[in-house]
Amino acid sequence: MRIDIISVVPDLLRSPFEASILKRAIDKGLVEIHIHNLRDYTNSSYKQVDDYQFGGGSGMVLMVEPIDKCISQLKAERDYDEVIYMTPDGKTLNQPTANQLSLNKNIIILCGHYKGVDQRVRDHFITKEISIGDYVLSGGELGAAVLCDAVIRLIPGVLGNETSALTDSFQDNLLAPPIYTRPADYKGWKVPEILTSGNTPKIEEWREQKAYESTQKRRPDLLKD
Ligand code: ADE
Repeated sequence: MRIDIISVVPDLLRSPFEASILKRAIDKGLVEIHIHNLRDYTNSSYKQVDDYQFGGGSGMVLMVEPIDKCISQLKAERDYDEVIYMTPDGKTLNQPTANQLSLNKNIIILCGHYKGVDQRVRDHFITKEISIGDYVLSGGELGAAVLCDAVIRLIPGVLGNETSALTDSFQDNLLAPPIYTRPADYKGWKVPEILTSGNTPKIEEWREQKAYESTQKRRPDLLKD
């Protein structure tokens, strides 16, 4: 999978891809991340990418021209499955969206900044608008990093244990059950006996039950549909 990320503060996007699972996925050749600085796509001598909004109002707006140049150049090189705009008024990111995006070959992620982008960008280039939650960030970069992490870990081969993404919270609209590791008894705080019983079907049954109970208690909204 190839992900092209367009940003006015590309430095904000580097470190998530330089460590841990995401770095390993890149090193294994399972994903390519290309970060583009929008300022490299301007004609103006002082690399202007934003301007005042028509009609007045506070806050600067990212201009259509540099974004057009960047996206059009990328699209001339390959086909893209999605051109995603990170914005607080987009659809809230959830596991089904991450699952669906992980099946794509090439995607572009545009990070908004300041007040956002000229509406014509959204009208003519964007195929999906994604928010990472009902709060406003200073730009789309951190949201893009969150989205990339959620998507990349689902690509086959990225996680060591192929099944582990399937047992994540949300993968069947249930939260994950409680998990434990050694020691089985720490200061008298004991691991539930069933987990050390070796009875795999019973353990599975216990996990399902616990997942259901946890979801009912903490996120009953997930059980509604
Ligand atoms: N840009 C600013 N706020 C955002 C949010 N909540 N999600 C995605 N992109 C954003």
